[in-house]
Amino acid sequence: METARALLLCWATSCAWPAVAAATSRLKSPALPILSEREPLPSKGVSGCSFGGRFYSLQDTWHPDLGEPFGIMHCVKCICEPQRSKRKVYGKVSCKNIKQDCPEPNCDDPVLQPGHCCKSCPNGESDRQPMETLFDGYEYFQEKEGDLQKSYNDRSYLSSEDMTPGERTDFVALLTGLQDSWMPTSSGVARARFTLTRTSLSFSITSQRMGQPSKVVLINSDGSTVFEYRVPRTDTDVICGVWKNMLKSHIQQVQAEQIRVSLVTASGRREEIQGKIIKHRALFAETFSATLTSDKEHAGMGGIAMLTLSDTENNLHFILILQGLIKPTHTGEWVHTLLQSESRLHHLLREMRANITSYDPDFAEVFTDLNSRELFWLSRGQLQIAVETEGNDPNQISGFITGRKSCDTLQSVMSSSEALTPGKTGAVGSAILHLHDNGTLHYQVQVAGVASKVIGVTIEQKPQRRSKRSVLYDLTDAFSPSLGGGHAQGILGRVEARHIHMLLQNELFINTVTATHPDGELRGQIHSLLYGGLDARRHEMPFLLAGQFVSPPVWTSAAGHAWVSVDEQCHLHYEIVVNGLSKSDDLTINAHLHGLAEIVDMDDSSTNHKRLLTGFYGSQVGYYTDSCNRKICFAKSYSGES
Ligand SMILES: *[C@@H]1O[C@H](CO)[C@@H](O)[C@H](O)[C@H]1NC(C)=O
Ligand SMILES: *[C@@H]1O[C@H](CO)[C@@H](O)[C@H](O)[C@H]1NC(C)=O
Repeated sequence: METARALLLCWATSCAWPAVAAATSRLKSPALPILSEREPLPSKGVSGCSFGGRFYSLQDTWHPDLGEPFGIMHCVKCICEPQRSKRKVYGKVSCKNIKQDCPEPNCDDPVLQPGHCCKSCPNGESDRQPMETLFDGYEYFQEKEGDLQKSYNDRSYLSSEDMTPGERTDFVALLTGLQDSWMPTSSGVARARFTLTRTSLSFSITSQRMGQPSKVVLINSDGSTVFEYRVPRTDTDVICGVWKNMLKSHIQQVQAEQIRVSLVTASGRREEIQGKIIKHRALFAETFSATLTSDKEHAGMGGIAMLTLSDTENNLHFILILQGLIKPTHTGEWVHTLLQSESRLHHLLREMRANITSYDPDFAEVFTDLNSRELFWLSRGQLQIAVETEGNDPNQISGFITGRKSCDTLQSVMSSSEALTPGKTGAVGSAILHLHDNGTLHYQVQVAGVASKVIGVTIEQKPQRRSKRSVLYDLTDAFSPSLGGGHAQGILGRVEARHIHMLLQNELFINTVTATHPDGELRGQIHSLLYGGLDARRHEMPFLLAGQFVSPPVWTSAAGHAWVSVDEQCHLHYEIVVNGLSKSDDLTINAHLHGLAEIVDMDDSSTNHKRLLTGFYGSQVGYYTDSCNRKICFAKSYSGES
């Protein structure tokens, strides 16, 4: 049907492709922020340093962790310096503030990314000096794998932080029925994750042991409602919403942790659960999570666990936030944290004892060296974490550990600029992934604009050696080729826990091999795109944006995809993700306007109606609203039929 292609987004051909140095992409996020409370003690006779209850080897560097509320001091760097006395070498800790060494950013609105000390330009614009030169001899900003050649396409290593335009802060809340009254009103427990960007707060909430929530309410310290969200009747188990155009005072209240979140049910018996929205240093690293509930009715008990694997070892780090488990009158109580498997009738795998207090009821710990069975159960959502108190009448709460759940979309734009051998083919690839609680990964891939046949589609990790692909999952069998591309849709049933971790840390890639490009013509990093309020993302595949779609075709290295929808008020909503725009061979130009998106009404044969959506720069355009005319709505309604 002709009208099926009525709505088309394409690249503008008029603007020169800009050039930007990818200096910031080499800033690797610091070491895991969740630290073990009990480090292995150094064996006798080993030289090193002791600092903050931990042991460091000679030449180790680290950012001191002062615990809450300060967290990790990213601008302070400590080193265990070897000192020589007559007989032996010993270590001495010296720390210095590295802030004055920050390079001057090259843009007007530099931002401070979480986990970094220096402000950087929000859209990957180059800083005046590459960071590496400033930290000569230190390990902090260096790559994990040292043998990787620098000539390799560096942009593939953008961490999640670098991908995010503008400032963002993550928050979490544990909601329980425990309120000021001594009689809790609900057995429900919910976990809410919030992300504050410049003027909006997006949230993902999952709840257990309560009826279907109908309202999310945010309350300030005076007890007044500052925001209310009516939960639509949906088939998903996650509540997704965005508070947009926030007042400055409300942003400040969120930042100052003065806001509580409440979840209310409407039908049947009214239930309400509440919790405080707090910042937490573990949120950045979290890849697995659990909501812990009690079997007792209305006990007001609950907890959430934020978990992550270490980068190199199979250590499971976790932080527990608990509510109601310990009576407020108790100064401290011993609790046991248990790890058990579902498949073996609550077979106990690990146990750990800790003294927690009612006023500071969260703690961090590590289960070290998970074996292959434990990792298998973890990947399948069959590992349970439980916390129980000691004594005659013990309280227990427990929950299953699954991959971190949120409303964000796991997606990738594949472009020829990110291919292991970068090219300019004007083709595009797009992938949308969905991770289920049982570890099953559902994928949809589209490829368009390629000149030769697609012969391979794979999920890969970063090359271990230069330009040597490291394939984890092969999706080629599911791919149906068609002229200029094709598509794949399928399910991966056996995703390893390590790969779930890497997926949620934005460390995986998707690669498309064509007959003429044996190493891959299109490649893109899979990263999670913050929920911006557009539900089209959940139900529809995005439109593809490629140089080959432009008339006449452009052999660009960039590519993109976009979700577009029209609401009842005839407002056009769209979200565009672009890949490869800021990459160029020419490092001298530094343009601010990197691209244009326009909407073309192809339905009307007499004239070519074009409408500029927006000019943008960087890798991603957020959520925009634009009033539209009838024609675009009309065109969209036809395209929806395809
Ligand atoms: C737990 O620790 C607190 C303070 O650290 C202490 O006062 C309390 O007695 C301890 N509780 C138990 C049961 O050991
Ligand atoms: C995992 O869950 C998904 C969604 O609920 C389901 O479609 C799939 O069959 C499940 N897979 C396994 C192996 O149980």
